[in-house]
Amino acid sequence: MPQNQNQGKAYHDSTKHSYLSVQINPNYVDASTQPIAFKVYPKFYRRVTLNLNNPIHAFIWLTSAVTSEKLYKNTPDKLRVNPSAGALYPTEVYIQIRGIEGMINGIYHLEVENNCLTLIYELIDDGLESYIIPNKSINGFIFLISCVYYRSSWKYQDRSLRYCFLDSGHHLGAIAASAYLHNKDIQLIFDFDKLALNTDLGFENKEFITACAISGKVQDQLVRRLRLKVPFVCGTDYFEANQFIEYSYQVTALHKSKHQKLKQPQFNFDKDKFQQIVWNRRSIRRFRKQFISQENYLYVLQQLEQPIPTESGEDVEIYSVLHRVEGMSPGLYKGTLLLQTGDFSEQTGYLCVNQAIARDCAVTFFFVSDYTNYQTAMQLAGFLGQRIYLGSNYLGIQCSGIGAYYDDETRRFLETTKDILYAMAIGI
Ligand SMILES: Cc1cc2nc3c(=O)[nH]c(=O)nc-3n(C[C@H](O)[C@H](O)[C@H](O)COP(=O)(O)O)c2cc1C
Repeated sequence: MPQNQNQGKAYHDSTKHSYLSVQINPNYVDASTQPIAFKVYPKFYRRVTLNLNNPIHAFIWLTSAVTSEKLYKNTPDKLRVNPSAGALYPTEVYIQIRGIEGMINGIYHLEVENNCLTLIYELIDDGLESYIIPNKSINGFIFLISCVYYRSSWKYQDRSLRYCFLDSGHHLGAIAASAYLHNKDIQLIFDFDKLALNTDLGFENKEFITACAISGKVQDQLVRRLRLKVPFVCGTDYFEANQFIEYSYQVTALHKSKHQKLKQPQFNFDKDKFQQIVWNRRSIRRFRKQFISQENYLYVLQQLEQPIPTESGEDVEIYSVLHRVEGMSPGLYKGTLLLQTGDFSEQTGYLCVNQAIARDCAVTFFFVSDYTNYQTAMQLAGFLGQRIYLGSNYLGIQCSGIGAYYDDETRRFLETTKDILYAMAIGI
């Protein structure tokens, strides 16, 4: 087994939930102590307010926009285009813009709460390319996703690194959706010098890069590493270090993912409708135990079969447990292949830590993998998860991500030795 797989597996193994572990440590937190979920650079940086009539601004804005505000225990929860485990939003987005008319060539932080771009670094002959695709220069956009891990570890402790990667994958999915709506191709990149970039962007160990998405024209050109360090700015109002998370991130950042050929997906959504879906996407809190049609279920599966635009090809397999799909026997499936017939709804509810959504839905999905690179596999699971949200919402079907499940019991139920990366529920 390669070294990095050991490290990813060691992290995954030591953060498994079981019936007992959840009883002993139910993750109760005092909501009033939640760290702030919006990073803001100091006032003296130059800012560009996003003007939604400008297509470039609209493209950037839709990758991360706040789309709804909900009062939770007297504090407003700002919900976004991207879902997030526990609505804790550990992810931040930075965008390098080069060669775009009307914009200064530079690295910008996307200040989601205030709807603006903060210019944190002006480019001369340097840039992010040297860390990501050496000897190339990109005329266009480089989106970097990072995680301010304490936002999530505040509640989910050691297991939160899993949620950081899944959330990051969802955020990449939100970038892909905005790119699709703005007629742009993107490529996801997971294997690059993340550790050097964390240092040069001044993240200390409190924030870390998980992935990037590039969009634009790639040219052969030497670009230097950043000539200056960006100063550290904390992404939360207070911070508690978790050395296990910092260590686990670092050791899983080091090795390469499996390689595959780059292929772009081809979707044919009605774009006006899809735009509304991206804007209105929400997680369901309770299903009404209704059936969905076979046609709609197969449509959601088809979205998952579309290529993911990346050369990092970890295999993520998806098991479906069908409870309420018209014309299809309830049971455990892999794709459309029936592995075991039966009504397993009570069982999936139990496996997902007694969550009713995993019992009352039409289909419970489980994502499993025997990954080479743990960070990549988890993010690909999140990326596919975003496709399930948008693909099912497009058909009027509701959806929720599920990060809490009993790991080993789920493996036994699926009869797999691979790791369970993520679960999801869809239905009405
Ligand atoms: C990685 C991940 C794990 C999640 N796990 C659960 C879960 O176990 N149970 C649940 O009810 N919702 C879960 N959710 C849904 C979040 O609670 C939801 O995304 C968040 O509250 C924001 O709401 P929204 O998706 O409606 O914008 C999860 C979401 C993500 C992205």
